[in-house]
Amino acid sequence: MDDPIQRHPTRAEQLDIITSVIAETTRPGAAVLDIGCGTGYFEHLLAEKRDDLAVTGVDMNEASLAAAAERFDGRGDYQWVKGDLRAPGEISLPRADYRVAVTCLTFHDLADVEKQAVMSWITGHLARDGMFVLMDRIRLTEPVLFGSQIALWNRLERVHGFTMRAADSFEAYEADMASNNRPARLVDYQTWFHEAGMVSQLLHLHGNIMVMAAARL
Ligand SMILES: C[S@@+](CC[C@H](N)C(=O)[O-])C[C@H]1O[C@@H](n2cnc3c(N)ncnc32)[C@H](O)[C@@H]1O
Repeated sequence: MDDPIQRHPTRAEQLDIITSVIAETTRPGAAVLDIGCGTGYFEHLLAEKRDDLAVTGVDMNEASLAAAAERFDGRGDYQWVKGDLRAPGEISLPRADYRVAVTCLTFHDLADVEKQAVMSWITGHLARDGMFVLMDRIRLTEPVLFGSQIALWNRLERVHGFTMRAADSFEAYEADMASNNRPARLVDYQTWFHEAGMVSQLLHLHGNIMVMAAARL
């Protein structure tokens, strides 16, 4: 399966980090929840390492869920649930004891208050010591440091031949913020995890894309 999200040179490494962490920290049959699963690319990568997990994918896009369901038909324990993360309380998940919840490049679609609501909703669906792994872009807030991000995008372009450059100036970056492009600050994620009753730790950061793990105590 090809990655449906291109122009993202560090994505393969970050997805490999997340699937490696899940593969090494779960027992057979452990429940895994993927929030904003799309067409199931993450599940495809995870299945290359572990095909004995009980996976639930949630997304609001019916066509994506149908494509995922077709891809995994007859291949193990996969459930695909339609749900809108802007109203998490209305999503009916098949379980409340997920060992791992994961979300990749989806949280920036949500307003900050919606992100926090999803974080506490997830906390309520994790097993004790369950882990939530969040991968997403983080918000760049310092105009004086924006040149270093541009240099990073330039380097990615040189090394990989493509890039995920978002803007050529801080003003253009700010102007590009929209209802489907609202990354949160790293420090806010740390605070929100704490408020949701979780401890958190950064697993990987490349420029403005982070992978953070949080655990329910
Ligand atoms: C950029 S895609 C990422 C897909 C997948 N996680 C991946 O990394 O390949 C974002 C996904 O989030 C889903 N999404 C965005 N907002 C959502 C919402 N409010 N409720 C449920 N899903 C949402 C989209 O339908 C889309 O499938």
